[in-house]
Amino acid sequence: MAHELPQFDPKRSAHRGGHGGARGQGHGGGMGLDRAQRHHDDQADFHALLKYHDQISRSVTNTPDGIVAETRSDDPAIAALIRKHAHAMHARMVEKWGLRHWDPAFAEIFAQADKVELVLQDLPDGVRAVERSDDPNVAILIRAHGAVVSAFVNGGAKVAAQESPLPEAYIRMAGSSPVG
Ligand code: HEM
Repeated sequence: MAHELPQFDPKRSAHRGGHGGARGQGHGGGMGLDRAQRHHDDQADFHALLKYHDQISRSVTNTPDGIVAETRSDDPAIAALIRKHAHAMHARMVEKWGLRHWDPAFAEIFAQADKVELVLQDLPDGVRAVERSDDPNVAILIRAHGAVVSAFVNGGAKVAAQESPLPEAYIRMAGSSPVG
């Protein structure tokens, strides 16, 4: 099945412009062609990940200020896609280029992106994400987001079609004013 997976194209790598490279492309409204293509690629990737979710395993360990998450697959093409997706999402966090805006857990992680430290380590069969924050409220969010990714891995598209839960203890920051 894995041969149906989207292929990695270095010319379209999210890292091409470097950190913040895409800043300012929003001027004039709309998404630039480059961004439209990237968004399209990102969507294709997470749809494929959701489709093959039962070939993915993930473990999350809480740390005092965040999580360490390991996401793996025995299928090398799926493992490569996991790595590609994680790096692409990291780049979007750095650029604060959100997605899934209707889902509070995602709106929040992008609203708080400045306070999220995400370090990715490629593994032979996937990726290790060390994600932390100095802000205890954001650490709550990181754990909640880690649990959302785990729920996607366990439940696939059915789960991804629904809003992701945020814990009561988390103070929301997205939108015009905090809701707490
Ligand atoms: C089975 C499906 C999926 C897998 C295996 C997966 C895997 C991952 C991994 C490994 C990371 C790095 C951070 C971490 O490990 O916690 C990550 C981050 C992220 N993913 Fe996914 N993902 C999936 C589905 C999705 C979907 C459907 C979306 C959005 C529509 C999405 C959006 C994001 C975002 C925005 C991040 C960066 C935020 C953060 O790390 O807190 N993912 N994903």
